[in-house]
Amino acid sequence: MAYYRRLFSLLLSLTISLFWFSQSASGSILAIDYGTEFIKASVIKPGVSFDVLLNRDSKRKIQSSVAWKGEDRLFGSDAFNLAARFPKDSFAYLKLLQGVPYESDGADFFRTISPVQLSRAERGTTNVIQSSNSTNWSVEELIAMQFSYIKELAETVGGADSREAVRDVIVAVPSYYTQFERDAVVDALEIAGLRLAALVNDGTAVALNFAMSRTFESKEWHVVYDAGAGGMRATIVSFETVQNGKKGRDGAQTLITVSGVGFDRSAGGLELTRRLRDMLALDFEVKHNKKITGDARGMAKLWKEAERVKAILSANNEATVSVESVAFDIDYRTKVTRASFEAACSDLQAKFSKPISDALENAGLKLDEVESVILFGGHSRTPMVQASVKSTVGDSKIATSVNADEAAVLGAALYGASISPQFRTKDIKVTDIVPYDIQISYLSQPKTLDSAEDAQTPLTTQRTLHTLVFPAGSKVGTKKTMTFKRKDDFVVKMSYKNPPGYGISSDLLEAEISGVKEAFEELSEAGAVDPVVKATLVLSESGFAGIQEAVAYGEIKKESFTDKLKGLFGGSKEEAKNETSSVPSDGSSSTPVTSSATQEAEGASLSSSSSSSESSASPSSETKKEPKDTIPLKLTVKPLSIPALTPAEIRRSRDRLIAVDTAEAAKRRREEARNGLEAYLYRLRDLLDDESDTSPFKKCSTEEERNALKEKLYDTLHWMSEEGDHAQLIDFWDKKDQLESLEGPIQFRYKEIEAFPSALNESQRINFMTNLFLTEARKNLTMELTPGGLPAYHTAGELSALEKSLREHEIWLNEWVEKQRGRKENEDRVILTTEMKARAKALEKELLKLMRRKTPPKKKTSSAKAGSSSTTIASTENSTPVSSTKSTTVENTASSSPAPHDEL
Ligand SMILES: *[C@@H]1O[C@H](CO)[C@@H](O)[C@H](O)[C@H]1NC(C)=O
Ligand SMILES: *[C@@H]1O[C@H](CO)[C@@H](O)[C@H](O)[C@H]1NC(C)=O
Ligand SMILES: *[C@@H]1O[C@H](CO)[C@@H](O)[C@H](O)[C@H]1NC(C)=O
Ligand SMILES: *[C@@H]1O[C@H](CO)[C@@H](O)[C@H](O)[C@H]1NC(C)=O
Ligand SMILES: *[C@@H]1O[C@H](CO)[C@@H](O)[C@H](O)[C@H]1NC(C)=O
Repeated sequence: MAYYRRLFSLLLSLTISLFWFSQSASGSILAIDYGTEFIKASVIKPGVSFDVLLNRDSKRKIQSSVAWKGEDRLFGSDAFNLAARFPKDSFAYLKLLQGVPYESDGADFFRTISPVQLSRAERGTTNVIQSSNSTNWSVEELIAMQFSYIKELAETVGGADSREAVRDVIVAVPSYYTQFERDAVVDALEIAGLRLAALVNDGTAVALNFAMSRTFESKEWHVVYDAGAGGMRATIVSFETVQNGKKGRDGAQTLITVSGVGFDRSAGGLELTRRLRDMLALDFEVKHNKKITGDARGMAKLWKEAERVKAILSANNEATVSVESVAFDIDYRTKVTRASFEAACSDLQAKFSKPISDALENAGLKLDEVESVILFGGHSRTPMVQASVKSTVGDSKIATSVNADEAAVLGAALYGASISPQFRTKDIKVTDIVPYDIQISYLSQPKTLDSAEDAQTPLTTQRTLHTLVFPAGSKVGTKKTMTFKRKDDFVVKMSYKNPPGYGISSDLLEAEISGVKEAFEELSEAGAVDPVVKATLVLSESGFAGIQEAVAYGEIKKESFTDKLKGLFGGSKEEAKNETSSVPSDGSSSTPVTSSATQEAEGASLSSSSSSSESSASPSSETKKEPKDTIPLKLTVKPLSIPALTPAEIRRSRDRLIAVDTAEAAKRRREEARNGLEAYLYRLRDLLDDESDTSPFKKCSTEEERNALKEKLYDTLHWMSEEGDHAQLIDFWDKKDQLESLEGPIQFRYKEIEAFPSALNESQRINFMTNLFLTEARKNLTMELTPGGLPAYHTAGELSALEKSLREHEIWLNEWVEKQRGRKENEDRVILTTEMKARAKALEKELLKLMRRKTPPKKKTSSAKAGSSSTTIASTENSTPVSSTKSTTVENTASSSPAPHDEL
């Protein structure tokens, strides 16, 4: 179930990567900072220093866009730039739509900046329509395509041959991301065939990057101020270096603790662009008396220009706007001053810095307790944003100590390395928080009203009770146990206390806890008094809240049967209702919340424990008792509002994306075949058009051959222009084959003519060498017979066998070279260089065999066949038969050759 996958994804992926580690000691982690405007990514591989991933144009930041131009899918700036021509097929700023309802602030804002057509998806989120062919895509699918694109880049980092699969991903998300938005990130990852290692809040990631190269003498607080395209946010972080008990350089641990966040999703960088674009649209209307706002292409061009001008105004007081043929064939030109732009944004000034004061307030800190305000994000360079921040915190606190574009992705990568057992990093402990109140609601135990006794059906009342289980500011990676005094099955709902934004529902999930009655009976039988239901609530490291398990629990007292009875019959309602308040709470976790609900007889109480380090072991003192005091209950969890995609839905989307990838790959192959054929046709045409007599192609071909080829060539060229667009891959291959079978013989002739001289030279060289050798060896043989002469190395038989081979070769060569000489260049060759080479090689082998001999053979003049009498020297004697087999080999080659020997 999707819900459980999310909640425990971290644990899961860690177990899996541990397994991988032992298998192959490899496996990389991909870190992605998926921003509203730009994607930054980094891949960490064991033993490789990590850096920001480059795209194919060597850009370090990649536009978060996907677009279609006809059938071609584009990414990055190629996709983004297409908006001016195909505004409805170019999809950018999709992060605004991620995990939010079709009617929400995010979707509404998207509509004001993009002409892309949206439709409501069944699950209440937004679908995006590729208008050129009316295809619906879910936002998750389009973001998954971008993740796939990044995955591809990450896998081919360091060249295509060092390709290594990437699966585990850390994604940096804004701290304000709700559970629905977090789910949408994970959905997109899974559709892309990736797996969540963890989500990390982007401000926290920046803090990690900041701490990477620093140690802290004493505890310090800093503000990370992130001015993003989609919103402004501030994170209060404390840094502290402590000893962890290890020796040497490993002995220091850096604690990074988030203690407050603040944010404003309505005052991001895109809002600035929007204001500027609207200024231009209004100005255009005034100047040209035409409304440009209805013209999607014109508005897209103005948007792009506004982006450009906004950047110029960050460094200049004035900028020239110039868009050719913006709309109605009008070239639009104007000037914008920074002052007028800032005036149009004056209401935002206060919003820019408000997140800082909110975060400070949440953290319970004063500004003067903060060392610095670390600026991050593309818009932290915008003068009006900086001015607003400076006026709130003072000039002296502003710090540009991190890379404003890359600190988050580098910090996320470091985080990935720190939670994975494969990598050794600085010892860092990160503690983050959730910014929203999370509560559990449930109906009180039904009570029969006394006044209803005489009525037909007894009246019951039930009230809805709420318990704040994870108040805003709660640490992630914690568990809490909530105790319910219930006797029957019941339902609890987990929700945000307040809706986290316009249009966003606050309900997270509903859980039915069943089997209570049976479990209680069993417990009572075992002697438990006043059994209760305990539910374990989890707030995962990645910020997902959920219910992990529910059990029935009753303390089993040794004593009396009467006590047991009492418990069974509920006689002790007022007593022993507060055993839960004595549940030991883990020192390192947040303080137990003794909710007001404890006062209710049917209420619930809460205790907490940290799950991050202490694992899921049950609270100590309680479970040390007899085993039967705890019975698991059935827990049925149903996600509410915008449920995460089910595995089946993920698979459907994944298949869809794979189909697109497959079609693109097939198209690429077809395109390559087509281009290959086309290039071949043009080359052939050039060869045929060359009328000069020196053209080797012409020399080596007959008129007939050229005509046949020409005819086929023009047929194929015609076919290309008629059918080329629709033809299949195989057709291109076919056509090329047909032409090649006509051109082949001509090419072959040409190559043979080229290769002939050197083949002949080689054959002649070997003949010459053999002749030399024979002369010398014969001389030695003669010398042997003179008195006192040294024994020769070769026998007369061997030498005549070699001479025979030589003569045969000479005759063959002369004869066929002579025959070839009488033929024209455009006739098929009668002698092939391959055969020449083979024959020369055979003779050479025979020659070398004899030449290499450096001792005289022992000769038994006439009894060579008497094997029995010459046992010890048999091996040397063998040389004669060997060389004779050699000559047969040559003869065999000769007889297998096409050239007949009967003319001898
Ligand atoms: C629209 O185009 C996309 C991309 O080329 C393709 O995957 C999809 O199947 C097309 N849809 C229709 C209905 O043709
Ligand atoms: C897209 O899907 C929605 C519902 O999911 C449907 O109402 C709409 O007609 C679809 N649009 C297109 C162009 O297929
Ligand atoms: C709850 O327990 C505390 C101490 O553990 C005790 O003082 C108090 O009286 C108890 N309350 C009830 C209602 O039993
Ligand atoms: C044959 O080879 C020799 C030596 O390698 C060279 O000098 C000569 O030019 C060559 N002749 C031909 C026809 O290739
Ligand atoms: C001929 O004899 C001399 C002297 O023993 C020797 O160096 C040379 O290699 C011999 N040559 C042949 C072809 O056997």
